[in-house]
Amino acid sequence: MLIRPTDRGYEHPTPSEITPRALVENRRAWLARLATGAAGAALAGWAARDALAQAAPGQLAPLPAVKSTVAGATTMEKLTSYKDASSYNNFYEFGTDKSDPARLAGRLKTEPWSVQIDGLVKKPGRMALEDLMKLAPMEERIYRLRCVEGWSMVIPWVGYSLAELIRHVEPLGSARFVEFTTLADPATMPGVRSAVLDWPYVEGLRLDEAQHPLTLLAFGMYGEVLPKQNGAPLRLVVPWKYGFKSAKSLVRIRFTDRQPVTAWGRAAPQEYGFYSNVNPNVDHPRWSQATERRIGEDGLFAKKRKTLLFNGYEAQVASLYAGMDLKANF
Ligand code: MTE
Repeated sequence: MLIRPTDRGYEHPTPSEITPRALVENRRAWLARLATGAAGAALAGWAARDALAQAAPGQLAPLPAVKSTVAGATTMEKLTSYKDASSYNNFYEFGTDKSDPARLAGRLKTEPWSVQIDGLVKKPGRMALEDLMKLAPMEERIYRLRCVEGWSMVIPWVGYSLAELIRHVEPLGSARFVEFTTLADPATMPGVRSAVLDWPYVEGLRLDEAQHPLTLLAFGMYGEVLPKQNGAPLRLVVPWKYGFKSAKSLVRIRFTDRQPVTAWGRAAPQEYGFYSNVNPNVDHPRWSQATERRIGEDGLFAKKRKTLLFNGYEAQVASLYAGMDLKANF
């Protein structure tokens, strides 16, 4: 990722940013929505704890979800505020500044939307967003997201395990990897006219990583559909890997027997390995990965947090890499 001297990072909300009345009212609506949802009482208590932090402005369509029962799917850490999560973004198709996606992604046309499924799979074809959204029950998952640049957030995503879709399309026995391609539309995405990456943005996972229950196909966050800057209408969220593996605005999912060449791997193979598991013991060639800055608590005197192996999901995912040299396979 480009870290430039001009990129001084996140700016704090000032004390004068008093919560406007509309936001308070929307927050109440959001709490009511949660409390009456399928997860009922359990969610209500949890919602109260973080109500202030997670309130979405209520301008996007609600996306009700049940609380996930997948092991490790719900961290109890304090949520990043919706404002921070939707205004400090990496989505290079809209520019390389953190504020570019929120400013420019409004142009993205998310309807109609479909995803091409192809390669080594029994049921290839084009699936409409509506059908994808009906494939499995929507779950709320509260994941840490650790960017390779050294910052992190805690976000309540809405979606279901990618494994559900994989099961539905039935990969062939020869499939070993999954390649993800995202939208590259020069008419609506000013960033794809720049040479910062070889577009489209392509990512990849080993099939067993893609099938891991924590790997999420996300359609929403904070109880609503995804804001465009966060990868509407659907994206990947792979919580134990650096954020760039979590490809936004997916248009194609291809099953293959060869390790996909990813956009970041093509741009700088010595810096961005295929696995990109969060690992405090393996530095990026240009900076340490031992600590991170949690967005929202990054005052002048705020202590950095220690980055955890597999971003804290070691108990759930370490077995995927048994016997592998994690330094060689970075
Ligand atoms: N997906 C696409 N298509 N283009 C991008 O530039 N950036 C990645 C990832 N997915 C990116 C992308 C990076 S570097 C990060 S850290 C996360 O998106 C950020 O997700 P967020 O903005 O929702 O926090």
